[in-house]
Amino acid sequence: MEILEKPFGLTSNGLEITKYTLQNLNGLQVSVINYGGIITTILTPDLQGKLGDIVLGFDSLDAYEEDHPYFGALIGRVGNRIAKGKFTLDGQEYQVAVNNGPNSLHGGLKGFDKVVWEAEAMPGSNSVRLTYLSKDGEENYPGNLSCAVIYTLTEDNELKIDYHATTDKPTPVNLTNHSYFNLSAGEEESILNHELYLNADKYTVVDEDLTPTGELRPVVGTEMDFTSPKIIGSRIAHVAGGYDHNYVLNKNGQEMSVAGRVYDAVTGREMEVYTTQPGVQFYSGNFLDGSLTGKYGKVYQKHYGFCLETQHFPDAPNQPAFPSIILRPGEEYQETTIYKFTVRNLPV
Ligand code: BGC
Repeated sequence: MEILEKPFGLTSNGLEITKYTLQNLNGLQVSVINYGGIITTILTPDLQGKLGDIVLGFDSLDAYEEDHPYFGALIGRVGNRIAKGKFTLDGQEYQVAVNNGPNSLHGGLKGFDKVVWEAEAMPGSNSVRLTYLSKDGEENYPGNLSCAVIYTLTEDNELKIDYHATTDKPTPVNLTNHSYFNLSAGEEESILNHELYLNADKYTVVDEDLTPTGELRPVVGTEMDFTSPKIIGSRIAHVAGGYDHNYVLNKNGQEMSVAGRVYDAVTGREMEVYTTQPGVQFYSGNFLDGSLTGKYGKVYQKHYGFCLETQHFPDAPNQPAFPSIILRPGEEYQETTIYKFTVRNLPV
């Protein structure tokens, strides 16, 4: 399929940003800009076949350049939290930006969500390839990290995201995408009626600053349990602050396996998530507060969207029992996540 390329504006320092739109024969569309590698739009059909935009975001580059909670963006060099922004690697201590309470969140002050990526359309595979060189010392992380992220839209209605990185010095790396979904495409102003399944028997317990304590706690019988499908809002009142937790996926090694599934009964839309990653942050949009107005004039109130950020566990550099996120020279960081869009109860 042809990949549409359209100017999306100039950054505040004069760089041209392009919007790439992938389409497939079923009419799905995914648009990505090379500012922050942000997914700006995902159009998928509902039960009646009507296309709707199921991700939160803005119409203009200006809005993406202002403060917002990572709508649609690529996250790096280290997604999620590093306690107190400190870690020790090969005997050397590093201090990265503290930008979230006492912790470092999502790469620091200028993470991968706020940089301009090189982008190239790859029509043969219906993909857009984004590359970015994060220089040695950027945000105080060691090593030149050369990153490539490939977004592909398949004819099976999958959005596949491949992440690659190599480095010239040992460094922590934890890349993800921070899309906020509302599967009703704005027909419901909250995702609390969506049904969620997570393929995770445990989650990483956090303290009041959302820093992991190191404990992996079984979810069974608690409000954290989504091992069978549950309405997101049904037990959220029992979760202080709402869901904002890393789930430990049930899997063997780095196999590609199902992380979760979300279903919206109003429109029939369903989304499945597959990943090679060991964890997924389920975030129920708790900090959305109505202060941002997005596409279609929608006001993003609390719980307007949810995120399923596939990732390594938070604070991995300080938690020796968690899977390591240290990438060394000569190694290749490689992870894949697939968001698959379907509808349930297709009319015959
Ligand atoms: C974090 C939340 C945070 C959100 C937006 C999520 O990944 O876990 O605590 O509010 O990103 O910044």
